[in-house]
Amino acid sequence: MLVLGIETSCDETACAVVQNGRRVLSNVIFSQVTIHQKTGGVVPEVAAREHAVKIIPVLEEALKKAKISLTDIDAIAVTKGPGLQTSLLTGVNCANTLALLLKIPLIPVNHIEGHIYANFLQTSARWWKLPKFPIVVLTASGGHNELILWKNHGVYQFLGSTLDDAAGEAFDKVARLLGLPYPGGPHIEKLAKKGNPNIFPLPLPYPKTFDFSFSGIKTAVLYLIRDLTKGNKRPLTTRERINIAASFQKVICEVLIAKFLKAAEKFGVHEIHLAGGVSANRYLQRRVQHALQKPNRFRFPPLPLCTDNAAMIATAGFYKLKKHPMKYKKWQPVISDPNLKIRNW
Ligand code: KG4
Ligand code: ZN
Repeated sequence: MLVLGIETSCDETACAVVQNGRRVLSNVIFSQVTIHQKTGGVVPEVAAREHAVKIIPVLEEALKKAKISLTDIDAIAVTKGPGLQTSLLTGVNCANTLALLLKIPLIPVNHIEGHIYANFLQTSARWWKLPKFPIVVLTASGGHNELILWKNHGVYQFLGSTLDDAAGEAFDKVARLLGLPYPGGPHIEKLAKKGNPNIFPLPLPYPKTFDFSFSGIKTAVLYLIRDLTKGNKRPLTTRERINIAASFQKVICEVLIAKFLKAAEKFGVHEIHLAGGVSANRYLQRRVQHALQKPNRFRFPPLPLCTDNAAMIATAGFYKLKKHPMKYKKWQPVISDPNLKIRNW
């Protein structure tokens, strides 16, 4: 079965073709990052306009790369939310129209569920097998941070989430304080490689539950910079910037890992997964790997599937359709929902 995935929830226009929920035939992403770097973040109206311009060329390229035509597609999966309303509309309108014309099933997908399904996409690793439930999955992105006990397809128990900023948001905000471009995560990671994380210890915000809180670290970095520069009287030195990046990365990863492993232990799961933009962080991946006794139970998506893409949406859609084939038989328009919550299905 060939599923076309469409994703436009924020600032990436993406289309992908996935076979049987696991084989990526194409995964085309047009990133608006260079456009939004000028403003230091996503301006919704600008993002919406770019989606409208790019959606058809991205769709055409995805079909071409997969070496198929529109009529070969068996179903369409589209991001319904959460995200920016004006961005979601382009993907949803495109998917609604295509599914109506092609008379094929149309499956709405929650963007965060898409992220966690990225680990169901086959990689080139020799040991690759389909993941085995139950799984503890930590998804950390720019807009969300969820710790989930994933019992089966569409069966979730929510363990914790962020009380304020998401981990990726903290990376982006601290990057801005350090004068780094948007999105900040990869830039902080690069800078931190040369740094000593112990020079400027930052406080660990550590709620007792499985929840997270990251706005305090951002404020601590702000005060640290103020102290070092004597109230912004001088710029930070390169060494100071490097060491702050290293401390920040260390502290944020320590909190994520501690809760993640505690949940895995408590629920005795088969596998533990990372997902979402922050899971692209190699320092985080390595630290989890070192902390585990059985590293092959640990998965994270390959780099292009960590951040926003449509292959993850297609695979989530595939499993929803497989479980409820009748539900999606008759065409029903997908209505975008910027505040969509994950529900069991
Ligand atoms: O999943 P994603 O592409 O979009 C959302 O759904 O939010 O995640 C984007 C977030 C950004 O905050 C970005 O700074 C962060 O993921 N990110 C990283 C890395 N690559 C992307 N954070 C830390 N280290 C990275 N290497
Ligand atoms: Zn995302």
